[in-house]
Amino acid sequence: MSLDVQQILRSGAEITDRALERLLAGPNTTPSSIHRAMRHSTFAGGKRLRPVLCLEAARMIAANSELPVGVEDLGAAIEMLHTYSLVHDDLPALDDDDLRRGKPTCHVVFGEAIAILAGDALQTLAYQTLAGMRCMPTATVAIVGEIARATGTVEGMIGGQVMDVESEGQRPTAELVAAIHRAKTGALITTSLVTGGLYAGGDTNAVEHLRAFGQCAGLAFQIVDDVLDVTESSEQLGKTAGKDTAAVKATWPAVFGIKKSLDDARELIESAFAELAGFGPRAEPLKTVARYLVERKH
Ligand code: IPE
Ligand code: IPE
Ligand code: MG
Ligand code: MG
Ligand code: MG
Repeated sequence: MSLDVQQILRSGAEITDRALERLLAGPNTTPSSIHRAMRHSTFAGGKRLRPVLCLEAARMIAANSELPVGVEDLGAAIEMLHTYSLVHDDLPALDDDDLRRGKPTCHVVFGEAIAILAGDALQTLAYQTLAGMRCMPTATVAIVGEIARATGTVEGMIGGQVMDVESEGQRPTAELVAAIHRAKTGALITTSLVTGGLYAGGDTNAVEHLRAFGQCAGLAFQIVDDVLDVTESSEQLGKTAGKDTAAVKATWPAVFGIKKSLDDARELIESAFAELAGFGPRAEPLKTVARYLVERKH
């Protein structure tokens, strides 16, 4: 069965956007500068891939293949954390980018102080949102722990960003670039899947298959992000193309070249699929989204 990926992405993005609209303070709420900054970056047109993965993981585990009540708040919290990571990634002290999601970056519009605080605020709002989730209390506690670890310093997003920044200008080894990619990007993608499964009441076996699936798909996703930085235009990407080469970043193409990068990404997706074999046809939507992660052009 070949599912329509655009349909899955569109519906997941709509569900996520509605939740974000409800959860973020309005643009006129005092102090308005930070609320406008948070909304500027959140509603700038992201693909919402992490929430989509989260929702589809939850749907796959749920008894009736329907989305569990309230799971959109989990997806929205993950998207807040992702957006915070982008706002900070673009700061002059990190990647120093002025274009994101097709719009000027947060610090370009609102200044550095408010951009730093908007990133911080998206992170605290994410945890406030997680605290109010409508799943089993034991699942809430497990989800908060998973997400905090995945965005933290030990093999998590912040740790990966540290290694990324500190390895600029050096010749990366295969081991280093794999460690960076698994941490800075793979961990949050993996946790999107794992926490979707936990929210839906998945058992340990199901959750660990989702984790292994996410580790493969997450690495593939960042490899493709690196390739697109070389092969696509800024218009196509909605962010500055060619930045990684200019900043001498530790990327997959820098170590392996474009062709092997794409081969590796496709191979990782095949390994990811193998992890879902036990779920049968219920895994088709997730597999469809995973295929998109490596075939996308932006
Ligand atoms: C970009 O992520 C940052 C990386 C971790 C590579 P996405 O490509 O998912 O960006 P948006 O959310 O669609 O803007
Ligand atoms: C970003 O990686 C990973 C994050 C944790 C935000 P990149 O620096 O490659 O992301 P882009 O290319 O700017 O979106
Ligand atoms: Mg970066
Ligand atoms: Mg960047
Ligand atoms: Mg990139």
